[in-house]
Amino acid sequence: MVPGQDTSDGAGVRLRRSLGGSQLNQLDPFLLLDEFKSDDSNDYIAGFPDHPHRGFETVTYMLAGVMRHKDSRGNEGELTGGGVQWMTAGRGIIHSEMPRQTDGLMWGFQLWVNLPASDKMREPRYQDIAADDVPEVVTGDGGRLRVVAGEAGGVSGPVTGIVTRPLYVDVALEDGEGGRFSQPVPLGHNAFVYVFEGEVELGADAESDRQIVSSGHLAVLEDGDEVQARSAGGEPARFLLVAAKPIGEPVARYGPFVMNTREEIAQAVEDFKEGRLA
Ligand code: CO
Repeated sequence: MVPGQDTSDGAGVRLRRSLGGSQLNQLDPFLLLDEFKSDDSNDYIAGFPDHPHRGFETVTYMLAGVMRHKDSRGNEGELTGGGVQWMTAGRGIIHSEMPRQTDGLMWGFQLWVNLPASDKMREPRYQDIAADDVPEVVTGDGGRLRVVAGEAGGVSGPVTGIVTRPLYVDVALEDGEGGRFSQPVPLGHNAFVYVFEGEVELGADAESDRQIVSSGHLAVLEDGDEVQARSAGGEPARFLLVAAKPIGEPVARYGPFVMNTREEIAQAVEDFKEGRLA
């Protein structure tokens, strides 16, 4: 179990980072997972002003609040609670994500997903999904799923055509015996659970394989496992289940650029300086 670490990014937004820090630097193809949650505007008001990306994908999933996004491809819009933006940066994009509120709760996640060498310099692509277009499924086991990508609970998520074939599900479970969830994860895919409300018991028939994952913590799943989860501690629980096909290539990473070699990173930095990135 990996505890998230408190940090900040952008122009000073407070975050809890559970992937991409010193504890778990990456889980191929995932490079970063941040949760931002605060009702103190000092923690988020500075936002994420213009910055570049190359060579991977950024996924912003909002639970509460409003962010205005704008990018060098002319895309512009508002990301609100329940909505998701899956941005394939490819060869380059420059964008900003700024809060559209001066008080109240701002809550959401950013996930970075790597691209294979063959896709790192592809044309940027951008999928902006409103909350209403993320299907919600109420299960018979006291669960409520919101399916962003992949298939769960008999429905498919609206994000499509992603090369690592991701599964991204927001799972809410009722308290106690009421809330259960199970989901097969494709063999050979890497998968994790990130708990953001309550406690979740993960596992397996054998008691020795069970683990309790508490809010703000990430658990890496065993390959080919069927995820079995139930809420623990007598409280409702909520978590992200995320999985994808690993890429298995060298990762050269520098700030907002993720390539295969140091030379490609140097090229990205130069392209950005010379105004050729996006
Ligand atoms: Co960004």
